[in-house]
Amino acid sequence: MEHPTLDRLKSEANQAIQDFLDRWPEGTADGLYDPVHYLMGIGGKRLRAVLALSAAEAEGSDTQSAYPAALAVELFHNFTLMHDDIMDQAPKRRGNPTVHIKWNENAAILSGDAMYTLAHIALTEMEPNGLPRALGVFNRTALEVCIGQQSDMAFEERNDVKVEEYMEMIRLKTSVLVAASLAMGAISAGANEERVKLWYDAGEQLGLAFQMQDDLLDAFGGQEMGKQVGGDILSNKKTFLRLYTWEKANPALIESLKHWDEVADQPDLKVAFVKNAMIECGADEAARLRMQDHVSHAMDAIDALQLDELDRTWFSFLGSLVTQRTY
Ligand code: IPE
Ligand code: IPE
Ligand code: MG
Ligand code: MG
Ligand code: MG
Repeated sequence: MEHPTLDRLKSEANQAIQDFLDRWPEGTADGLYDPVHYLMGIGGKRLRAVLALSAAEAEGSDTQSAYPAALAVELFHNFTLMHDDIMDQAPKRRGNPTVHIKWNENAAILSGDAMYTLAHIALTEMEPNGLPRALGVFNRTALEVCIGQQSDMAFEERNDVKVEEYMEMIRLKTSVLVAASLAMGAISAGANEERVKLWYDAGEQLGLAFQMQDDLLDAFGGQEMGKQVGGDILSNKKTFLRLYTWEKANPALIESLKHWDEVADQPDLKVAFVKNAMIECGADEAARLRMQDHVSHAMDAIDALQLDELDRTWFSFLGSLVTQRTY
């Protein structure tokens, strides 16, 4: 999906990332930064950076004031991907081999750690007045993302996960960072607590929709996603799609699904069977409806900010981007 504001903010973000990473060049520190440059160089929507820049602009500031926040959330996001791909045994990211496949797990762990530190270095370069507030949001968010990732893994071993537990898990692993991106952008522009809270609320709802679309794409997306299709099904992830399917399935279908849970040597057949069951039970439709609800809630928070019409339209576009994206 094209949009002039998206192009502008994304290229600003990419330039800021490149300028920042130039300070830690490839080939130095025995190659510690090579996976960082690699992962940042193979693409990515830069959504979190764009959100931080957007909130700063909507609060009447220039985008430059939000570069440290934008760099921090984008570097942090990419660090979580580097480790997430080890945890999820994911072979592909952005159409390319994941870091732990191209190098090895040790490289992905350590370069990920370095990236987490780089995110902090970026943030500490923000203007001093906003820094304590932004750092507070950032650190709380980082810990919450770890809790969400822990639940995501713990749920793989459980068969009694409830939809509300899933929603809380995705709020933690994904939404809080989307929320922090908007909140930290607003803080960079000097917004007051009440407005920062509204930005956070909008991001939290947007983030829930974002992860629901991520789960939909994991099952039903195409190659343009750049990730292995069906990865969540293969690792028995407790997504909304799965929970809904198991809730609606008749006893015979449940027996088949239980059987496929144990199958590891026929990945293509497993993915095909489970996808079919999801569609039969209407899980994809139900997920789309619920996702749309969260976008509406996000727009309620945006409306409460009383932005001018142009900014409101931009955030409305971002809402549709989240639910209509194909990668
Ligand atoms: C993927 O995030 C991980 C999730 C939290 C769902 P993105 O879909 O934003 O990944 P990139 O950065 O655009 O590749
Ligand atoms: C990732 O969730 C959330 C974080 C990285 C914190 P997923 O595991 O669904 O993300 P993808 O699908 O690998 O991008
Ligand atoms: Mg994961
Ligand atoms: Mg993953
Ligand atoms: Mg996913």
